[in-house]
Amino acid sequence: MAEFDSVAAIAVSRAILHNSRIKQPTSKRKSRAGTPAPHQLAAQTDARLGQVVRLLIAHATVVVSGTKIAAEIGTSRSEVWRLVQQLRDLGVDIAGHPSTGYSLKSMPDLLLPDMLAPQLSGTLFGKHIHHYYKIGSTNTVAVEAANAGAPEGSVFLAEQQTAGRGRGANQWHSERSTGIYCSVLLRPALPPSDVLVITLAAGLAVHSAVQEVDRRVLPDLKWPNDVLIEGKKFCGILTEMNAEVTRVRYVVVGIGINVNQSSFPADLQAIATSLRLVTGTEWSRVELCTALLKSLDREYRSLVENPDAANSILRRFQERSSSVRGRQVEVEENAGLEGVTEGLDSRGFLQVRTAQGVRTVLSGTVKLK
Ligand code: BTN
Repeated sequence: MAEFDSVAAIAVSRAILHNSRIKQPTSKRKSRAGTPAPHQLAAQTDARLGQVVRLLIAHATVVVSGTKIAAEIGTSRSEVWRLVQQLRDLGVDIAGHPSTGYSLKSMPDLLLPDMLAPQLSGTLFGKHIHHYYKIGSTNTVAVEAANAGAPEGSVFLAEQQTAGRGRGANQWHSERSTGIYCSVLLRPALPPSDVLVITLAAGLAVHSAVQEVDRRVLPDLKWPNDVLIEGKKFCGILTEMNAEVTRVRYVVVGIGINVNQSSFPADLQAIATSLRLVTGTEWSRVELCTALLKSLDREYRSLVENPDAANSILRRFQERSSSVRGRQVEVEENAGLEGVTEGLDSRGFLQVRTAQGVRTVLSGTVKLK
């Protein structure tokens, strides 16, 4: 789970698992060739679920009749009942039934577009948010969407991943509705050699989002794309790129954050943690995900608009990492190397002083000793 692959061009294409539990409205949008684009074939969460939740939140103190909900979202009362049952399956606490009307018992914490979009308006990530109840991997669906022409700023979120991918051949443990499994699609006008800085910026965005929600938590960035607390990993970033030699076509940045997990499988217990395990309290995924996307928007905009932003990202990354300087490491790269970290070079690659001199780490797993 904790290794780094070079940010070399990768365009993966995998079978996308369908959302088996939520009936989907038929998609009207087609690709230019007349067949649905690949990401449209993956079953997104029924958008009406978000509309029902929004309505119930807007009338949080009262019971809302099935007739009113049906009229507002343009469907029948029996369909509203079916949607309410689906929301309950997703863990939303709704009281009532068709004859009495419905009310929310507690604030739902689902990453539905209707919950996120209003808070993200004006950012790059507010307009094209795709949500899946269950999917193989949000990175895979984002890559498929990118190949089919999806716009920059598209966001892909899942409650659960059945084939969450980490770097190399690693998997990402993606238990239902406990973590944030998020991929964003970017189309930067940058050469491929500059893409590592985007990954570092994503780490910084996670760092600030966590601090914004709870100042007491101090994340530690581990080059290039792990985020740790007290030596254990709670966030991993998988950046995948499709590029020509001099020009990036797109970048997918996949971010996995362990938020409310109360335990991990035995093989992860020694190395993984969650924000809940660290603080002893339940976190709002909606709040954290909103803060993350806002922060990523700020970092990314300044990177593409301001020539000095890359230097600022490198400086801040080094300030927020306890291991990027002066730390004994072992890197499983090519023949492998061992030495003491000496900061980042101007493109963001890790420098390590070895017995043979200073080496630049381009890829591989960095093990802290
Ligand atoms: C790593 O630490 O090896 C990277 C883990 C990245 C996991 C995220 S979860 C959202 C996105 N979808 C995936 O399949 N992987 C990334």
